[in-house]
Amino acid sequence: MFIATTIEEVRKIVSDWQNEGYKVGLVPTMGFLHEGHESLIQKAVRDNEKVIVSIFVNPMQFGPKEDFSSYPRDLEHDTNICKKAGVHLVFAPDSREMYASDFCTFVDMNGLTDELCGKSREGHFRGVCTVVTKLFNITKSNRAYFGEKDAQQLAVIKRMVRDLNMDIEIIGCPTVREKDGLAKSSRNSYLSVQERKAAVILHESLKLAKSMLDSGERNAAKLRDAISNKITSQPLASIVYVSIVDSITLKSVDKIEAPILIAVSVYIGKTKLIDNFTYEKINKL
Ligand code: PAF
Repeated sequence: MFIATTIEEVRKIVSDWQNEGYKVGLVPTMGFLHEGHESLIQKAVRDNEKVIVSIFVNPMQFGPKEDFSSYPRDLEHDTNICKKAGVHLVFAPDSREMYASDFCTFVDMNGLTDELCGKSREGHFRGVCTVVTKLFNITKSNRAYFGEKDAQQLAVIKRMVRDLNMDIEIIGCPTVREKDGLAKSSRNSYLSVQERKAAVILHESLKLAKSMLDSGERNAAKLRDAISNKITSQPLASIVYVSIVDSITLKSVDKIEAPILIAVSVYIGKTKLIDNFTYEKINKL
């Protein structure tokens, strides 16, 4: 496995692969890899002859009051995981390599980023779209892999690829969970023992919504109230949003008539966590 820190190195390796006719899969990450990332990497290794994992904590997608400087980093741990998983190239640039001091070109989106995380994280998706576009251009990958835990990110990237005719296939992979249901996330490492126990409330509130949907509930306000009440029953939790949106447009719905995404963002202590599920069985309701 090769570890590249410059764009030039990546271009050289990828050009050799392209000359051999290999299909290339990219797993974009911000590092501190966990089983969620590993499942993306494993899928990429199954689907492609060559696999690149990018590890870059992208400053552009963090707001001024967010956790860019404290975001967990451990390149040695990450490269060991990549090596064991059969990755061929790790791309771990620093910020100067990715952003020239006079960098001034951005990829932005309207509409799809108005709700959910986009509402409370101004500029976040502009940062994500810009860096992901750069990673696609640098690695010239055939496929890229993203977790369904970041449902809005996945929808945004799929739309960007469609709207800008990017020649890459986007593959969403299921959320990987701890035994008690908490979605795996690099930010779980911020939680104290007590907070870690409390964090299961995200999954439990979504399970409640799922059982209400299975029993025929169609009223989005009632579902939102039930989820919110469940979350606020946990003293360490405070809600950022509880959203029920159309799974394609990501616009809020009043009635459950088409496939929907139910997504929550919750502070557990000082740590902001997200979780979601998509409900598609509308015909069975
Ligand atoms: O999901 C992430 O880890 C990041 O948003 C991504 C896609 C690597 C872009 O920085």
